[in-house]
Amino acid sequence: MTAAVIDGKAFAQGLRGRVAEAAARFEAETGRTPGLAVVLVGEDPASSVYVRSKGKACLEAGMESLEHRLPETTSQADLIALVEALNADPKVDGILVQLPLPKQIDDKAVIAAIDPAKDVDGFHVVNAGRLAVGEDALVPCTPLGCLMLLKDQLGDLSGKNAVVIGRSNIVGKPMAQLLLGESCTVTIAHSRTQDLPDVVRRADIVVAAVGRPEMVKANWIKPGAVVIDVGINRVEAGEGKTRLVGDVAYDEAAEIASAITPVPGGVGPMTIAVLLRNTVVAARARLGLAAEAGL
Ligand code: GUN
Repeated sequence: MTAAVIDGKAFAQGLRGRVAEAAARFEAETGRTPGLAVVLVGEDPASSVYVRSKGKACLEAGMESLEHRLPETTSQADLIALVEALNADPKVDGILVQLPLPKQIDDKAVIAAIDPAKDVDGFHVVNAGRLAVGEDALVPCTPLGCLMLLKDQLGDLSGKNAVVIGRSNIVGKPMAQLLLGESCTVTIAHSRTQDLPDVVRRADIVVAAVGRPEMVKANWIKPGAVVIDVGINRVEAGEGKTRLVGDVAYDEAAEIASAITPVPGGVGPMTIAVLLRNTVVAARARLGLAAEAGL
């Protein structure tokens, strides 16, 4: 079998188009466009690239982007003061504080300061709790993007065995909650899991989010399973060059799976598209407007 390639780039483009339409309707209804504030502390090159692309994507969707760049030496109190000002700013519908933060700042304290109604990353404990009990929540962008790809590929997920490899608060745990919400039988595997290949072999759906290049091998995959690869790992490619690979050994896994996301071009493009989606959803909810269908 050769797997279907799940084209996250194309799906993300479609979603961004729908978000742009929703942003235009929001403007027609309210007289302003949805606004996303992105806060970057320090000059980590990868974070800088992410923040720039988030701002650009916002503008392309006809939304307002407010970028705040603070020095590496910023204190936790000053960062929280900025978050509180953004909480109070009526033009701001979404707040994203780019992680990781410098070591003098406690991520948890900063996330706790974000108004849950503006928490478009879905990292606040109120949103994590709402997701866990099945209430309307802002949901972390990467796992929600993975779920969209899975539902697009499979339709109803109910009763499927899903294995999520990785237990981070950003991807693994919310991914497991989302799959449980779709009535999957969910296993969360992690670095202490025994007999990981055997656990993965039971899965109809595999979501790999561990950050280890090509760790998941073809002989771990049940024939016909759908594989979602969240990993983005840069590895040596010889002659001083590097290339990006996922957490799954793609070429061999594609011979066994029924569908698989490539790296790059799979899950990666979904994250920003869902961030824009979450911003429009947050904007409408905050103003008490009806939710948009199709987002
Ligand atoms: N750093 C890496 N991924 C993310 C993300 O999804 N949100 C935030 N805020 N920071 C990140």
